[in-house]
Amino acid sequence: MTYGHFSEDGREYIITRPDTPKPWINYLSNDRYCALCSQTGGGYSFFETAGYNRVTKEYPPLVVSTDRPGRYVYLRDRETGEYWGATWQPVCKDPTHFESRHGMGYTVVESGYSEIDSHITYFVPPRDDLEVWMVKLKNTGIKPRKLQAFVYVKWDLANYAFNLAEAAFSNLFNESSMEDGIMFVSSRFWNITSGSAGNPNARWDKLAFLTASFKLDGFDCFDEAFIGPYHSWGNPVAVERGSCSGTVGDGQDIAGALQHDFELGPGEETEFIVLLGVVRHKEDARSISRRYDSWGEADRALNEVKMYWNNYLSRTICKTPDPDFDLQVNVWNKYQAWITSRWARMDSYYIGGGSIVGHRDSWQDTLAILPNDIEWVRQRVVYLLEHQFPDGSTLHNWDPLTNIGVKTGHSDDPLWLVLGVIEYLKESGELVFLDEAVRYYDGGSETVRQHIVKAIAYVLDHMSDRGIPLMMAADWNDGLDHVGRQGRGESTMVAEHLAWMLREMATLLWFVGSDTLAQKYIEQRDKLIRDINEHLWDGDWYIRGTRDDGEAFGSARNINGRIYINAQSWAVLGQAAPRERAIRCMNSVEKHLDTEYGPALFLPAYREPDPKIGIITRFAPGAKENGAIFNHPVCWAVMAECLLGRGDRAYDIWKRSSFVNLGKRPDVYKVEPYVYCEYIHGPDSPTFGQGDFTWTTGTATWMWKVCVDWILGVRAELRGLLVDPCIPSSWDEFQITRRFRRATYEIHVVNPEHINQGVAEIEVDGERWASHLLPVFSDGKTHKVEVRMGAAHGAVETPEELAAQRIAE
Ligand code: GLC
Repeated sequence: MTYGHFSEDGREYIITRPDTPKPWINYLSNDRYCALCSQTGGGYSFFETAGYNRVTKEYPPLVVSTDRPGRYVYLRDRETGEYWGATWQPVCKDPTHFESRHGMGYTVVESGYSEIDSHITYFVPPRDDLEVWMVKLKNTGIKPRKLQAFVYVKWDLANYAFNLAEAAFSNLFNESSMEDGIMFVSSRFWNITSGSAGNPNARWDKLAFLTASFKLDGFDCFDEAFIGPYHSWGNPVAVERGSCSGTVGDGQDIAGALQHDFELGPGEETEFIVLLGVVRHKEDARSISRRYDSWGEADRALNEVKMYWNNYLSRTICKTPDPDFDLQVNVWNKYQAWITSRWARMDSYYIGGGSIVGHRDSWQDTLAILPNDIEWVRQRVVYLLEHQFPDGSTLHNWDPLTNIGVKTGHSDDPLWLVLGVIEYLKESGELVFLDEAVRYYDGGSETVRQHIVKAIAYVLDHMSDRGIPLMMAADWNDGLDHVGRQGRGESTMVAEHLAWMLREMATLLWFVGSDTLAQKYIEQRDKLIRDINEHLWDGDWYIRGTRDDGEAFGSARNINGRIYINAQSWAVLGQAAPRERAIRCMNSVEKHLDTEYGPALFLPAYREPDPKIGIITRFAPGAKENGAIFNHPVCWAVMAECLLGRGDRAYDIWKRSSFVNLGKRPDVYKVEPYVYCEYIHGPDSPTFGQGDFTWTTGTATWMWKVCVDWILGVRAELRGLLVDPCIPSSWDEFQITRRFRRATYEIHVVNPEHINQGVAEIEVDGERWASHLLPVFSDGKTHKVEVRMGAAHGAVETPEELAAQRIAE
């Protein structure tokens, strides 16, 4: 079965039937207002945070597959009484034609039923906090028609979790009013500071509004009046009957329903705009509705959205022999990484409307934004640093509105901060940033340099007697949450991450002249690497860690969870593995973890809950962190293979796990074929091959980074832009254009000998250049770089950065 395809220019995904195996959604969003919109107009909206500033309702993750409610327009024939949904949902009558197009920042749904064509464009303008629906209806028949349109949303104000759990009680606080054709709704209760319990004595400090540019022939604010008892979204009584009841007032379960009666002659068309948004004062809604209420004004705002995305997408562009690779890097993976950087893991169709900024996730999410919007990353870096403590530890996550957070003791958290700051410095070259003072979460401030030094110190202070970092609450893998609660379990991944960061810190400190500390880090790193290899090597791969009782897990001695991918890939990333072991452990990944959809996180999946390991063993076998193909680590496997120079293998892993490839079997994969999902159900699952938890995943940032930095091999280093491709040998050539600091680099690479890695010759602006590190230009101009790959790479010097990254042969 096919459900859709990419448009010719790749900028849209065109869905050709409404009943996709799961809702296939898009995120329509500026930095503040966010609307999740499926191919049939399903989904919900929120402002700034999904947990405390919810606007409209959906019922994920309870019933993802029903995808209800949404942004609906019911249409009704006033003569026959027949009615249907302009986006197919929620009435679901067979359309005469259907097409839904997800684009960058907008979604279009077109369909036909009973000789009436409808066309709706949904988007969120860049400057104001609302969503706009541009609705066009056309009579394609030969008879004049008397029709009605009912615009419908279900409000869900402010308190997402509370409203869900305490629906009847939360209704007591709802307010609704109609003023000059604008529906206003708010809540007298905002549980922002007290979770779901207690009375915070606060009202929501915002209002939501709904209005349409048509003549209003009726409305309902009470959901019960519109839908009717024992009816549902598929057959609301108001639509069945052909009239709303004009319900309005306080203390009810509220909906936004607006009725419009109209006539359409044969071939005649009509259009109207629906505006739905969040404001502080009613006056703001009035002025917003004046700004957007004509088709021309709405269209202008839609063009602004398109211009924003055209501009953003133009910033790093590649052209390779693989059009799927280009489509992902240039368009969809880049777009997904932007969405993830703004909204991860606060909300999705799969995550229950939290209000949380995750520390480790947010650092990683900056990585794919770096070359494309460095100003945004800079602000974000400062913001994230402000959630560190003076002892180097950090909050694990926090609510962005109240800034209240939790410190969980995850062992990896401080290391992501180090990685994020160093990557920012490499891209920006702004070394003075190291001397900038940044606040700590609980008071006081120190320089950025102190922030990163203390982060490292914190990890070095939390080691086992034999010199391996403790697992503590868990590491990157949240599911390993009872391995080290008693303070003895160890984490191989954190050890390898620390080895990597110690090297990065030493390189940075040498670069800025702090040789003594750099030297100390190198010594600590050497010792750590010795300890890793002495205690964590299992024969053919590295164990994943040890439990509080001293038992190894991720070992050949285990029946379940015998080999974990991260312990191998990070041994390479952190250069903790000598070359022979690096090759051997990555070969073990191929041998024991490979599946047709990419390598699994570990195998075999746990079959029985093991309280000495944690929640990972409680997930169903093959699901989530329990033996699924977790895409985020798949990226690190690609990177590790590039570090080993095995470009064919790296590309093969990327290709198999790429959404374009997985989307070719939509009835198995089920989820959106234009973005990465967090994981694919593993071989131990009855639904092997199905994607899950789409959109907001660390895969978005890492896969993009790995493709650009490691496969194409063009990456920022402190001293300049480095070129070191690791491509499939079948590629003859490729190009990449990228901004770096103040100039643009147009890089063309040829591969006449069909090798994976190795540069024989470089020319910059027509002149021979003797290093993999390209010159740093500050002239704002475009510079042409010609690179010839070749097995004899004598003519191009290997700079220290690259030498340090290569695992010695
Ligand atoms: C999810 C979490 C991330 C974690 C990963 C593995 O993606 O958001 O923080 O590292 O799962 O547990």
